[in-house]
Amino acid sequence: MIPTLEWLPEGINFLDQTKLPLEETYVLATDYNQVATVIRDMIVRGAPAIGVSAAMGVAIGIDRSTATDLKALTAEVAIISRTLAETRPTAVNLFWGIDEIRNLFNELAATNTPIPEIKAAVVAKSRRMYDEDIAACKQMGAHGAPLLPKEGTVLTHCNAGALATCGYGTALGVIRAAIEAGHNIDVFADETRPFLQGARLTAWELLKDNIPTTVLCDNMAAHLMSKGRIQAVIVGADRIAANGDTANKIGTYGVSILAKEHNIPFYVAAPWSTIDLATAYGDLIPIEQRAATEVTHSNGKQMTPHGVAIENPAFDVTPAKYITAIITERGVLYPPFTQSIQQMDKHPSASELTPA
Ligand code: MRU
Repeated sequence: MIPTLEWLPEGINFLDQTKLPLEETYVLATDYNQVATVIRDMIVRGAPAIGVSAAMGVAIGIDRSTATDLKALTAEVAIISRTLAETRPTAVNLFWGIDEIRNLFNELAATNTPIPEIKAAVVAKSRRMYDEDIAACKQMGAHGAPLLPKEGTVLTHCNAGALATCGYGTALGVIRAAIEAGHNIDVFADETRPFLQGARLTAWELLKDNIPTTVLCDNMAAHLMSKGRIQAVIVGADRIAANGDTANKIGTYGVSILAKEHNIPFYVAAPWSTIDLATAYGDLIPIEQRAATEVTHSNGKQMTPHGVAIENPAFDVTPAKYITAIITERGVLYPPFTQSIQQMDKHPSASELTPA
């Protein structure tokens, strides 16, 4: 399994995803500010991995604090949480990860738990969240595998794999599980301009697992769909609104429209922590704007004329109407998503809700 991130006695070790596929190097974060930089600079990326990194970031901040009383430590936790929350706005898992640790801290502080015990508890919880993320990916795989074709090519966009999680992946986890169950699946990986998560990361991790993978430029899917070369699409998610509208890497929305036009099923795979019940619909999801240089430059080389205007939204929103099903660790959600999400929220253990 690829160690995307790892809690070590000396700090949190992150596989530097900006250097892949050419270099496999690690960045050690020894304090919460360094964890914030690692998230902001996309050394670690992908919603579930960001969520656990943020949780570990709060935990390392508390663990390394020199505060001697709970009042001072509580004030520090507010600063730590704010610093991590300001790194990236779209993936709701970031805020979920911070809240999980902060809520535990608040509970323990409210009962005057000694600081060393609090430190041990928050570190242990953040490390458990790592294991739970891998378990959730495996569950998504089990629920989602039967939806994929027994034989055929599945298109994915961005990287929703082991690298975007603590291991196994969401969308790529479903593909892995289908292959483990005997499906004969090839993968088309959209290159995913401008950060090239598909060309660099999805291709890298699938080749490591000997899964047949072909990289496509982002403008090739329509042609290949029209020729019957794509049997299903599966992507991850950064935030799913209460009505099923789904924010994911820029370009996903276009792929969903193409899939609809060609009658190809379009699946989203994401842990429950990606569902944001507080956001009613997709237009309310904040979309991160990233630096123009990601578009103007490729591999350090300028590709566009000096002074040209640049847009660089990092995500777009796929309306729920284009989504065939949402695969979570709790089971598979079908339209109408407003109802199926509410039902699964109330009955988390319901393993499968049948299509309406
Ligand atoms: O900007 P990134 O690389 O963090 O964006 C990642 C994506 O959009 C993924 O598809 C999403 O986070 C799901 S990862 C399981």
